[in-house]
Amino acid sequence: MGQSQTKRTVPEKRIILGVTGGIAAYKAAELARLLIQQGIGVQVAMTEAATRFITPLAMQALTGHPVLVNQWDAADNGMAHIGASRAADAIVIAPATADFIAKLAHGLAGDLLSALCLARDCPLLLAPAMNKQMWENPATQRNIAQLLADSATVLGPCSGAQACGEEGMGRMLEAEELAREVMAFLQVGGPVGERSPTPTLPPERRELNGVKILVTAGPTYEAIDAVRGITNRSSGKMGYAVVQAALEMGAEVTLVSGPTALDKPPGARTVDVTSAAEMFEAVKQRAADADIFVGVAAVADYRAAQPSTQKIKKGDGKLTLELLPNPDILAYVAGLPKPPFCVGFAAESEKLHEHAAAKRAAKKIPLLAANLAQQAIGADENELILFDDAGEHLLPRADKLAQARALLRHTAKLYRQGNLR
Ligand code: C5P
Repeated sequence: MGQSQTKRTVPEKRIILGVTGGIAAYKAAELARLLIQQGIGVQVAMTEAATRFITPLAMQALTGHPVLVNQWDAADNGMAHIGASRAADAIVIAPATADFIAKLAHGLAGDLLSALCLARDCPLLLAPAMNKQMWENPATQRNIAQLLADSATVLGPCSGAQACGEEGMGRMLEAEELAREVMAFLQVGGPVGERSPTPTLPPERRELNGVKILVTAGPTYEAIDAVRGITNRSSGKMGYAVVQAALEMGAEVTLVSGPTALDKPPGARTVDVTSAAEMFEAVKQRAADADIFVGVAAVADYRAAQPSTQKIKKGDGKLTLELLPNPDILAYVAGLPKPPFCVGFAAESEKLHEHAAAKRAAKKIPLLAANLAQQAIGADENELILFDDAGEHLLPRADKLAQARALLRHTAKLYRQGNLR
């Protein structure tokens, strides 16, 4: 067999790693090293400010390529901003400062890196890094929402200790996490369950462009007294993954979230609730306006009949707690005169197929995603089985974001078919 017929299992990929001027710039060196280790070609481009934090020489030594900094460099006839992005499969900006994000959101191109982003014909990934007030500032949030709408992918930030000594949202993801995300992003396409190529598509071609999606996520907490309550081990990860996948696919997303330790997803409207009653109220107010409703929340089935405002004192005898059933939020939405397309979740501990099919029928919903509770709750990965009118579809074990993307691709297909009928 000739050399030309040899097939590569992992195609060679190249990225431009854009480094902007923040203290997290030092993490970009490790990110470059990890990506190169995975066989990714890395061309670094830095802003002038970034060179104050880490030297171009260090990045050149790590990547083996001279670093692009100066847009007035005569060596390439001043065309670095066009040439470099043509050879790349993605541009990854890490760290992305608030200032640079603002420039991108407005299409400014006054330095080589921003010009490169504006002139690109490949996907753009951003890893924001900034002080928490800068992150929370409405101007930054507006800019992020704009970039998401323009089909950029935003990785992080996360919450933690900040260089300024404060604690909060705005910290850049660690290099290992970013490397994982970039690798997963570059391996686009493939069978159901793998990462979707959606983020690379222009807005008008995204499968849920402009579709309004309402999502419930996390557990609920039903107070028994001032300090105790009934809740469950749901982490909210699956619901938040559904939100991220929906945003990537162009949807307008409202998240009604029970108490979780997760950061609010940038780009979605989040309504925080505690109890099932509050979740029900928040959903009731918004359901009529939704095109699709995805009930991922693990809503407590019962609440205390008479929660005490004071802490219940310990006594010698038995304590009997009277519980009342909570309203079924999903069944309510599905029963509306003009219901949105409803997707339910079912976590079963046994007889998965039987219980899931019965639940779909009882709640009168077109699509239900079922998993085994003991494998899914709190985990980062799960296996899902989708139940719809056509039967069952297995989404093999994968991380929750990959599952959410596959679930929403399936949802989008059924939603469109329903609208055509
Ligand atoms: O009946 P079960 O709790 O197993 O149903 C799970 C599905 O129903 C999930 O989609 C969940 O979000 C939704 N649900 C709800 N309100 C409830 C109970 C469940 O929306 N009170």
